[in-house]
Amino acid sequence: YIFLRNETGCCRSRIKNEDRIIRKSKMDRNQIKVLIRQMTLEEKAGQVTQLPSRYFAIQGSQLTGTETKLGISEEKKWLCGSILGKLDAVSMRNIQKENLERSRLQIPLMFMTDIVHGYQTIFPVPLAMAGSFDPGMVRECARISAKEGSAAGYQVTFSPMVDVVRDPRWGRVMESFGEDSKLNCDFGKAMVEGYQGENLKDPDRLAACVKHFAAYGAAEGGRDYNTSDVSEFRLRNKYFPPFKACIDAGVKLVMAAFEALNGIPATANPWLLQDILRKDLEFEGTVISDWGAVLELIKHGVAEEEAEAGRLALESGVQIEMATAAIVKHIEVYVKKFPHLEAILDEAVEKVLILKNELGLFEDPYRGVDPEREMRELRSPDKKRAAFHAATESAVLLENNGILPLTKETPVILTGPYAESKNILGPWSVDGIVEDAITVKDGLILKGGRIKEVIQTAYEEVTEQDSDRIVQTVASGDVVVLALGEPELWSGEAGSRSVIELPEHQISLLKKLHEHQIPVVVLLFNGRPLDLRKVKEYADAVLEMWFPGTEGGNAAAALLYGEKNPSGKLAMSFPYGSGQIPVSYDMAPTGRPKADLVQEPRYKSQYLDIPNEPLYSFGYGLSYTEYDVQVNGKIVRQEQEYLVPVKVTNLGNMTGKTVVQIYIGKKKSLVARPVKELVAYKKIELQPGKSKEIVIPIEEKTLERWIPGKGWTKEKGEYTILVSNDGRNFQRMELTVG
Ligand code: BGC
Repeated sequence: YIFLRNETGCCRSRIKNEDRIIRKSKMDRNQIKVLIRQMTLEEKAGQVTQLPSRYFAIQGSQLTGTETKLGISEEKKWLCGSILGKLDAVSMRNIQKENLERSRLQIPLMFMTDIVHGYQTIFPVPLAMAGSFDPGMVRECARISAKEGSAAGYQVTFSPMVDVVRDPRWGRVMESFGEDSKLNCDFGKAMVEGYQGENLKDPDRLAACVKHFAAYGAAEGGRDYNTSDVSEFRLRNKYFPPFKACIDAGVKLVMAAFEALNGIPATANPWLLQDILRKDLEFEGTVISDWGAVLELIKHGVAEEEAEAGRLALESGVQIEMATAAIVKHIEVYVKKFPHLEAILDEAVEKVLILKNELGLFEDPYRGVDPEREMRELRSPDKKRAAFHAATESAVLLENNGILPLTKETPVILTGPYAESKNILGPWSVDGIVEDAITVKDGLILKGGRIKEVIQTAYEEVTEQDSDRIVQTVASGDVVVLALGEPELWSGEAGSRSVIELPEHQISLLKKLHEHQIPVVVLLFNGRPLDLRKVKEYADAVLEMWFPGTEGGNAAAALLYGEKNPSGKLAMSFPYGSGQIPVSYDMAPTGRPKADLVQEPRYKSQYLDIPNEPLYSFGYGLSYTEYDVQVNGKIVRQEQEYLVPVKVTNLGNMTGKTVVQIYIGKKKSLVARPVKELVAYKKIELQPGKSKEIVIPIEEKTLERWIPGKGWTKEKGEYTILVSNDGRNFQRMELTVG
């Protein structure tokens, strides 16, 4: 017998513990094929159908309701091969049990969800975590997320998202690892390893699903779901490599993107899902559509009705239809009209069953899930410690005139919309527990800071009385900690915005404090790069916390009081203004560079009103100490690597970490290559006054570029190597590749 948890988390009722071992043990490929031969056409189509868990809602212990919207019978609903969305250990067991009672061939269900930056214990949003420049840390966060998520009954997470992003108007930039392809490769791979581990049968692990294939992050105008039009040159060099890195790390699923790429919706795009994904990128796992994307083929205008949409998706290479039921509804007709579809369906079913088999579901369809394990795993203290660490490593110090770190004796007036808000988990923290979030106020108090007054304000309205009251509260020697930001829903899915400044009233409050010569430290909570020109002008220090997750307030306090030294760097540039978008550090050269002294001043590639460079570039981030970074000798070639020698010195009086970044450019190339591209980096920690001589390897492979007509090519000749730890100041070296 196992215990059930009621809503308050207490153990109350008891249910019978079902037989853990069902009739099949782990199968080999041949047995899977035999199983497929035993299946009816409908049963096969069921396996490629994924329905939301709400269609299997539980009231008490009763499973209820067929969803009429789907247009399928209760019986057909139970043919589905996988379920996505809200779950817990008890409902997973109940649904699986009913499935097995109904399933003629005893095929277990598979449960999936979006565990993007934590399940119930929430880590910072991925864009923030990429700023740690520490893939090892993110691997650990993914491992922890898998422990929590699997204990609640899931086997697959729709993560990592490795869409390269250059447009902060797009709300989903928070979910990506930023504008750089290499960072997306490294962090995507680390997350896959963290979720999946060595052996997927380990019940603590989750299968990962990398998304959204491809170029979803290039939505025109930054408007979510909008079409993207990206050259093959850029797709191959920038957008595809992170998917390849995840595939090489063994990722089990790939999700097709919502949008139409170069005129063809990704869900019905055989070039993308077969030629590129299967042949070029060598993916052998399962392709899943995005939510409802199969039926959206009608809206895209490439299918007339449901049956055609399902057929196009299946034929193009989709193996699981998410949240709609076109294929299962129309399969009989398809096979009569298009007999070749049966073999395609068989292949899709095989992919699904292989995945279930690898997850060990045929041996234990419950995968060791029980409410006790669930209670033990969820939100345990070790997980919170990891979330705290991740939040401190991800924050980026953008400005500091010396006001930070604060001493704990400094009287603080804490105000702004995030002063005591728990809404700091960030978008895509679907199952995160908001009540667990540590607010800035909690964090400062827990650290023993002297908090004189807390004045919570709204996001979009700060009345004159409120701002007067704040000003009047401040005495000489006080510091105002102003916790500003965008509401959570301003970013994330469907969170596109045309204006990327903070709400006007937040800026007015900051300005007023500045005009009264009140020292102000701004803490920022947001899911996208913002236009911070005014914040930079009026604040004494700016600490970008992003959406930092469950431990956000503790992390903010540790950083403000200097218990932790900020070390995060931006993984996405903060534009000077939205007119600069799209913007990234790895722009291609032009025939008329702005810095070119020969060219007449006007006829250059430039804006007449703003600089070309972003306000804060990729790779930028301050610390409470200063580092000297020096190239330390010649680059040496060793096996498949070029070793760049660098000496780093901590010039200040505080221990800290910095990220040494290595970029390359090619002096002369067959194509107009970006002036600089990140190829390697290393984060190091140094005591005050200490130096370290390090060697940073550039993998030879990272020099290769996809060149039209030639494919992947390592060009010979002169390269420029640029070394920096702030994305602003670079030291140059030369490298000759023979
Ligand atoms: C999102 C996906 C997500 C899916 C399932 C869609 O709206 O685009 O990223 O995995 O929903 O929740």
